[in-house]
Amino acid sequence: MTDTTAAAPKARVKIFDTTLRDGEQSPGASMTLEEKIQIAQLLDEMGVDIIEAGFPIASIGDFEAVSAIAERTDRAVIAGLARASRGDIDRAWEALRHAKRPRIHTFIGTSPLHREHQLSMSKEQVLEKIRETVSHARNLCEDVQWSPMDATRTETDYLCETVALAIECGASTINIPDTVGYTAPRESADIIRILRERVPGIDAVTISTHCHNDLGMATANSLAAVEAGARQIECTINGLGERAGNTALEEVVMAMRVRGDIMPFATEIDTTRIMQASRLVAAVSGFPVQYNKAIVGKNAFAHESGIHQDGMLKHAGTFEIMRPEDVGLTESNLVMGKHSGRHAFKTRLAELGYELGDNQLQDAFVRFKALADRKKEVYDDDLIALVEESTAQAAAERIKVKFLRVICGTEAPQSADMILEIDGVDHRQTSNGDGPVDAAFNCVKALVPHNARLALYQVHAVTEGTDAQATVSVRMEEDGKIVTAQSSDTDTVVASARAYVHALNKLLTRREKTAPVALVSGD
Ligand code: KIV
Ligand code: ZN
Repeated sequence: MTDTTAAAPKARVKIFDTTLRDGEQSPGASMTLEEKIQIAQLLDEMGVDIIEAGFPIASIGDFEAVSAIAERTDRAVIAGLARASRGDIDRAWEALRHAKRPRIHTFIGTSPLHREHQLSMSKEQVLEKIRETVSHARNLCEDVQWSPMDATRTETDYLCETVALAIECGASTINIPDTVGYTAPRESADIIRILRERVPGIDAVTISTHCHNDLGMATANSLAAVEAGARQIECTINGLGERAGNTALEEVVMAMRVRGDIMPFATEIDTTRIMQASRLVAAVSGFPVQYNKAIVGKNAFAHESGIHQDGMLKHAGTFEIMRPEDVGLTESNLVMGKHSGRHAFKTRLAELGYELGDNQLQDAFVRFKALADRKKEVYDDDLIALVEESTAQAAAERIKVKFLRVICGTEAPQSADMILEIDGVDHRQTSNGDGPVDAAFNCVKALVPHNARLALYQVHAVTEGTDAQATVSVRMEEDGKIVTAQSSDTDTVVASARAYVHALNKLLTRREKTAPVALVSGD
């Protein structure tokens, strides 16, 4: 493989991850507090420079997440988003103030469309707001980032004027958002170049790029901005984000690493944690990664055609520009069977990035043995699904699926017989349905009456073969709150029932924050 990483000194590019803010804004991707903390911890460990933990004024949940992450994070800067209002900025600061390294990120729309239709403000009024709010943020926090929303559709002269003012008022990072994914690489670079040529004081601040992927150019636009002088990239794991998503962290980081010969830029990301982060964000958000997604897709390192396989056997460099290990993929796929012991199991999990406590390890090992009995070959992806399932089971859930038997086939009605353990007591129910999954869900609805709407039900096979485990994702909505949960099992109906019950438990946890809830009548 050609070594392209040597040679000239590289300029440092900071990675600003907004998975927990812009990523979570994507409809249906909402995460619980514990999930956000888990993701933030991993981002911190893998070397992300700035973690945008949320939008504190948006909801109590966002506020709590930003505060909790701020308190727990040692290394990364923690940012909280605020609109151009004192109330937003004060709330952001309240959530951030205990962070070792807090950053207030405030923004306002600057394009004609945003000024006229969203804000109903003149150019002068927007400038006045920038003066007031950036100065206010700077009085509270030393580290202030300012963004002209829809910058790429803003008149160039006016954009320069707003940026100059934000710098004058104390912003130390200027972020240039391509809010609607409209720009293209050459234009993205030109904007940065013009700002550097025309704005007084710009050399003293960090220029950042924030691209959306509506035309599939977010990665290219971000890298073009860096070539023109931006030194911070805003991005998300798996490119999660509103509409077509944001710039994918794994793509920009690996592009700069693999093509260091023509893009001499360095980050501090430990790329071997990329797959772990991708899996975690996919599981938590319920947004599976497309098979052919660059870097983290299931097929990104798979070689199917005869010519490619032949080349790969002779020299990996013939058809592979990066090594699977560099992004945290372990080489072999078939790892374990029913004769594998606890030590091998623990070691393999550690290689995959999972360090489990004693109880959880024991639980996962018991599940592994049961799986290995049912399934001849246990692959890495099976182990990962199994650990995710054990983590969900380990959560203090009030409702658990204890028993499930279904009758299904060509003769209707399909039916399910289920025992749910609810607050430690077993409850049994038999229900019919339009198919076994519907019947199982009807049992849950009868035992735990609720008004939550099933917004998404999705099944995918973890590995190949008819004995493959199925991972089921379920998204439920209640009073505008959305939760996502997953479960895996070789039996799709069991995985479906468990995923449904996990989601219900998450909704209960949310409801309990407002008032305790009795689950079964008479409780
Ligand atoms: O896309 C955008 O404009 C944003 C800003 C809030 C930075 O996410
Ligand atoms: Zn955005």
